[in-house]
Amino acid sequence: MDAIPIFSFFFLISIHSLLVSIKAADTIAVNQTIKDGQTIVSAQETFELGFFSPGNKTQNRYLGIWYKRLATGTIAWVANRQTPITNKSGELTLHPDGILVLRDSATNRTIWTSDSFGAARTPVARLFDSGNLMVVNDDDDKLENYIWQSFDHPSNTFLPGIRFGRNLERGVIRNVTSWKSEDDPSPGPYMVYMDFNGFPQIFQKNGDVIQFRLGIWNGLGFTGMPSLRANQIFSIRYVSNEIETFSDFSLINASVLSRLSLSPLGDMSWWNWIDRTQGWFLFMTPTVDNCVRYALCGVYGSCDIEQSPSCECLKGFVPKRRDQWDVSDWTGGCEREIALDCVAGDGFRKYSSLKLPDTRQSWFDTNMTLAECETKCRNECNCTAYTTLDIKDDIGCLLWYDELIDMRKFSTNGQDIYIRMATAELEKDEKIFRKKKPLKVILIPLVVGLAILLGLCVLIIKRKRSQNPKAQANDHIEPSDVIDLPLFSLSKLRVATDNFSFGNKLGEGGFGPVYKGVLSDGQEVAVKRLSTSSSQGVEEFKNEVLFISRLQHRNLVRILGCCVERQERMLVYEYLPNKGLDLFLFDETQSKLLGWSQRLHIINGIARGLLYLHEDSRLRIIHRDLKAANILLDRDMNPKISDFGLARSFGGHETETNTKRVVGTYGYMSPEYAGDGIFSVKSDIFSFGVLVLEIISGKKNRGFFHEDHNHNLLGHAWKLHQVGKALELVDASMMESDQTFGVWLCIHVGLLCVQHNPADRPNMSTVVMMLGSDGQLPEPKEPGYYLQDDRFGPENSSSIQTHHSNNGLTVTLLHPR
Ligand SMILES: *[C@@H]1O[C@H](CO)[C@@H](O)[C@H](O)[C@H]1NC(C)=O
Ligand SMILES: *[C@@H]1O[C@H](CO)[C@@H](O)[C@H](O)[C@H]1NC(C)=O
Ligand SMILES: *[C@@H]1O[C@H](CO)[C@@H](O)[C@H](O)[C@H]1NC(C)=O
Ligand SMILES: *[C@@H]1O[C@H](CO)[C@@H](O)[C@H](O)[C@H]1NC(C)=O
Ligand SMILES: *[C@@H]1O[C@H](CO)[C@@H](O)[C@H](O)[C@H]1NC(C)=O
Ligand SMILES: *[C@@H]1O[C@H](CO)[C@@H](O)[C@H](O)[C@H]1NC(C)=O
Ligand SMILES: *[C@@H]1O[C@H](CO)[C@@H](O)[C@H](O)[C@H]1NC(C)=O
Ligand SMILES: *[C@@H]1O[C@H](CO)[C@@H](O)[C@H](O)[C@H]1NC(C)=O
Repeated sequence: MDAIPIFSFFFLISIHSLLVSIKAADTIAVNQTIKDGQTIVSAQETFELGFFSPGNKTQNRYLGIWYKRLATGTIAWVANRQTPITNKSGELTLHPDGILVLRDSATNRTIWTSDSFGAARTPVARLFDSGNLMVVNDDDDKLENYIWQSFDHPSNTFLPGIRFGRNLERGVIRNVTSWKSEDDPSPGPYMVYMDFNGFPQIFQKNGDVIQFRLGIWNGLGFTGMPSLRANQIFSIRYVSNEIETFSDFSLINASVLSRLSLSPLGDMSWWNWIDRTQGWFLFMTPTVDNCVRYALCGVYGSCDIEQSPSCECLKGFVPKRRDQWDVSDWTGGCEREIALDCVAGDGFRKYSSLKLPDTRQSWFDTNMTLAECETKCRNECNCTAYTTLDIKDDIGCLLWYDELIDMRKFSTNGQDIYIRMATAELEKDEKIFRKKKPLKVILIPLVVGLAILLGLCVLIIKRKRSQNPKAQANDHIEPSDVIDLPLFSLSKLRVATDNFSFGNKLGEGGFGPVYKGVLSDGQEVAVKRLSTSSSQGVEEFKNEVLFISRLQHRNLVRILGCCVERQERMLVYEYLPNKGLDLFLFDETQSKLLGWSQRLHIINGIARGLLYLHEDSRLRIIHRDLKAANILLDRDMNPKISDFGLARSFGGHETETNTKRVVGTYGYMSPEYAGDGIFSVKSDIFSFGVLVLEIISGKKNRGFFHEDHNHNLLGHAWKLHQVGKALELVDASMMESDQTFGVWLCIHVGLLCVQHNPADRPNMSTVVMMLGSDGQLPEPKEPGYYLQDDRFGPENSSSIQTHHSNNGLTVTLLHPR
């Protein structure tokens, strides 16, 4: 009976000594072999190295490192990812030269070996609590002189302390690749890696396709993920020197278990171990929202997760292919509204709160200031943008040399970037800026004062004029009026136009017939001849000379010279073979030639020409007679605004003017102009709106007929828009399904322009912006003159004087005052 307790006692002692010996083994000595079934364990028992079979389906054996304490058995590293051992016959040995060799003892085949760096004197392999298996010389205290480490060859898991990046001295590049599946650790298609072209960035790719770009380190975090920065749980750093470039993270409380791993499905996830639940908690998934998709919005496009759709072009850029863009095919990206002209001098516009674009084509300097950076970028025509490299210390320079791609908008913590823009584009900002200035308090009394003064002056001048009727009927044309223009001799123009033959007559312009001519050098011209019978014409002629000779824009007709000889007054213009827009729009056969993209092109061209007249030209001009017949088309169907006979220049502070002599064209005149003789840029906007609706519908506003109601074109369009059927306005012959958004947008903008109240109508720069927008526009209020009955405007309150025959032509209304 005594024998049993004694046996038990010895048994217990032997078990105990066995446990102690297992716990001590965190190293592999030279010539020592670890067989399948045996393991070594790190000092704090955090990690364990040994053989395992992943998942449930396979018997394949792999050498790996896993979390020792966790029941989940999460694998952190695999040695023989691509070469499994089929039996439990694997053996790991440390050779005297410091190399670890994994052998299949059944076949005596070498499955995997580590490599070595530097001389192995007293090599030993040790598994650390960080999860790193290192081969070091036992006589060397400095760990950084290691011979080999598993942290240089991560598999799918990024642990604290892994230096993600490269070490040129050791010739290692550290990246992570996904497993093929839960049962197969061999490398799958997904990889997260650092790209060293330009300023180094972290990417994720699937095969050869880039999926996600974390972007550059900006001193605080990664530009693609501002939320991924140091916090109370971990710190992140980026280090770059001659030897190493890497990023790593470390935990504030080293006993917390944390890992980043790439799943077989390509999800990069950050996990923290929670003791309370005994499970991994998904701390964050960097690649979770839609806007992380690489280059989703194409070049110069920006993704905003708070918008739908998420993609928009940066300010000053428009979709390269509007039709594709509108069906969410954004890959084509955006292009500049106004092309760069480096020779003439470009500038830079600041864009804020962005993820900085791909830096693979960038240049950087860590010591330059932002001002030096700008100078460098300005001096190199191929430099497209610049910014501060390190926003923490506010130092360093980063320059881009190609089209900017993969940007997104952040609500907080985004970055500023300065993008090269054409000077004309930047001038738009100045205007908006001027408007926004909160100087109203000072300006309003000032403007009112000025207006009163001006009113007084005008009154006095008017009095004087009415006392001196000659001043009004000023019908001479002094040579000084045309001093800026090249002179053509009468005889030359006679020859050119075949003596103003009827066959060469192109039509009837504002103040006389227009002839086609061919100069002796072969150049085709249009010659406008002031009819001798028209006294009205003299003023318009002078007006035209005054303005057109001082204006230059590709959407305005160009004047080549004039002729002032004996009784003849003539103007010579560039010849535009496609003549007036009205000839296309309102002709049944010709209108079929005018496709939607051409119509859009024409609308945009007119808008730019008018923007120039209203806001950008030196003179600042109200055209007053904008209509289809005054839009000429060149060989490539580029629109050019013509006929400045009625145009008026207005000063900077002057916004509207009153006239007794209302001159314009039925169907295009705004209510306040036709009714009260008040004209301003907003009366031009009205005419522009009418023109837009005419271009889209192919129908004249005046004379429009619909059997269901007595509205004119404006009223008809407005009614359709209100019930969401605006597209019914469109000439069915030209519609393609992918163009509907563009059509809809133009109708909407057109309706905003023809609103009854001038104050509601947008100005030209807003119109241009709206035409390039995503369609988030205010709802138009009721248009001016939308019933057929009032298409004539104030018929009863004024006498109508037409000075060129009838329909569609310019008329004069005289208001009794
Ligand atoms: C390891 O084995 C080799 C040959 O098998 C032997 O030459 C060497 O002395 C051994 N080294 C140690 C430290 O045991
Ligand atoms: C393996 O099987 C267990 C239980 O049968 C299951 O809970 C676990 O999810 C499986 N693991 C894999 C990787 O399929
Ligand atoms: C090893 O596996 C092969 C087949 O995969 C089998 O034929 C062989 O008997 C196994 N050897 C041992 C020692 O288990
Ligand atoms: C196994 O292979 C090694 C060389 O690869 C050789 O030296 C050794 O003798 C082989 N052992 C057996 C049992 O075949
Ligand atoms: C990933 O790492 C491997 C091994 O160091 C290296 O050969 C490969 O070039 C790296 N790939 C990239 C894209 O950095
Ligand atoms: C670190 O975390 C462990 C549990 O994970 C906790 O017991 C310990 O108090 C923490 N240490 C510090 C300094 O917060
Ligand atoms: C940057 O400036 C520091 C000190 O001002 C200097 O030591 C360093 O060499 C400079 N680096 C470069 C690349 O010019
Ligand atoms: C940009 O232009 C400069 C000369 O102005 C040239 O030296 C440089 O190589 C160009 N860079 C790229 C990326 O084309």
